[in-house]
Amino acid sequence: MSNLKEIQEQYEFDVYGKRGILIERGEGAYVFDSNGNKYLDCAAGIGVASVGHANKEITDAIYNQLQRISVVPGMFYNNMKAQLLQKLSEITSPNLKRTFLTNSGTESIEGAIKFARYTTGKTDFVCAMKSLHGRTMGALSATFKKQYKDDFLPLVDGFSFAPMNNYEKFIEKVTSKTAGIILELIQGEGGVNIAEKEFVKKIRDYCTQNNLILIIDEVQTGFGRTGKMFSYKYYNIHPDILCVAKAMGGGIPVGAIICDNKIKIPLAKHGSTFGGNPIASSAALATIKFIEENNLVDNSKILGAKLLEKLKGIENSKIREVRGLGLMIAIELKEKVKPYMQKLLDEGIIVLSAGITVLRLLPPLVVTEEDIELIVEKIEKVLR
Ligand SMILES: Cc1ncc(COP(=O)(O)O)c(C=O)c1O
Repeated sequence: MSNLKEIQEQYEFDVYGKRGILIERGEGAYVFDSNGNKYLDCAAGIGVASVGHANKEITDAIYNQLQRISVVPGMFYNNMKAQLLQKLSEITSPNLKRTFLTNSGTESIEGAIKFARYTTGKTDFVCAMKSLHGRTMGALSATFKKQYKDDFLPLVDGFSFAPMNNYEKFIEKVTSKTAGIILELIQGEGGVNIAEKEFVKKIRDYCTQNNLILIIDEVQTGFGRTGKMFSYKYYNIHPDILCVAKAMGGGIPVGAIICDNKIKIPLAKHGSTFGGNPIASSAALATIKFIEENNLVDNSKILGAKLLEKLKGIENSKIREVRGLGLMIAIELKEKVKPYMQKLLDEGIIVLSAGITVLRLLPPLVVTEEDIELIVEKIEKVLR
C-alpha cells in the first residue's frame, strides 16, 4: 500500500498536506485504513458524511437510480429532481420556493452572487471577516483569508468585510452599489464562530428595509449539523438565498441555491451540466429522508450538547475555549493544534483544524453516546 501512497504523491497536486494514512473504506461513523486500523471520523469528509459512511439506504438509492438513468439535461423534466426541489422547499422556509441545483458549495455561492446581482441590478456585497465561502473566483472574493486570495488577484470587484457581530461596522460598508450581505451564521473554517441573535436579526431587518439580498451560507452547517435542520432556524429569520452543499448528498457531490420568490434569474443566464442530475438528486432525497426518519437533527442537538459539556469539563491549561452548536464543535488551544491532530490520529480519532490553534470536530450525525465518550477520553489523553 505504501506504493499507492507514493503513486498518489507522484501524480497529485496536493493542496492539503497529507496525514500519512490511506483510507480505503468507511462504515457509519468509522473509517478504515489500508492496514485495517479503525478511526472514529470527526472530519466526516469535512462535514459531508452526516448520514455515516457507506450508508445502505443512500447506496441503494444511488444504485437503483444508476440502473434507470444517470443524466437528464436541464431542458427536460425529471422525477428525481422534481421531488428533491419540492423537499428542499418543505424543509426550509415558506418564502424559499425556487431552487437551482449545483454540484458543490462554491458553485452555490457563485450562483447566489449572480442571482443577487441580477435581481437588484447592483454589484457589491458585504461579507464577514474570517468567512470562507469557496475557492472559485466569486466565492473566493467573498472569502476573508488573504492567504487563500493573494496569489490570484485580481478577484471579483465589490466585496468588503466587517467583523462578525458588529452591526454598525457592517452597515458602514453598505453603499448605493450594495446588492447584498453574505453570512455564515456559524463560521466553519474561520474557527466555529457563532453569530449573535441580535446581530443577525438587525442584519435581516436592515436587508428587508433597504432591499438588500441576505445570502446565508449553510454549506457546512446545513442538514442537521448544528442541531437544527438549518442553523438559521435558531435565529427566527428567513434568508433571501440559502446556499447548501456538503452533507446534502450523503457523499455524492450536490448543492443548492434555494431562493425567495423575489429572486429572479431568467432563461439562459445561468446553467450547469451536472447540477441536479438524477444520481445526485436521488442521493440527496435519500439523505434527507434518512436524516428525518432517524432523527439525526435531534441526535446532533442532544449528543452535541453532551459532547460540548464534557469537553468543557476537561481541566487542561492548554485549552483557551470550547465552543460549538450541535455536532459542530471547536476546541481552541493556546498553542498550535497540528501535533495534537497527529496524536489523535495515532489514537484512532480523525479531527480537523480551523486555523492554527483550533481543533474542529464534525463527526457524522449517526455517532452514539459511546463514540462521544471515546472522543472526550482521547482528547483529554492527548492534551495531557
Ligand atoms: C461555509 C462554506 N461555504 C462554502 C464552502 C465551499 O464548499 P465546496 O468545498 O463544496 O466548494 C465551504 C467549504 O468548506 C464552506 O465551509
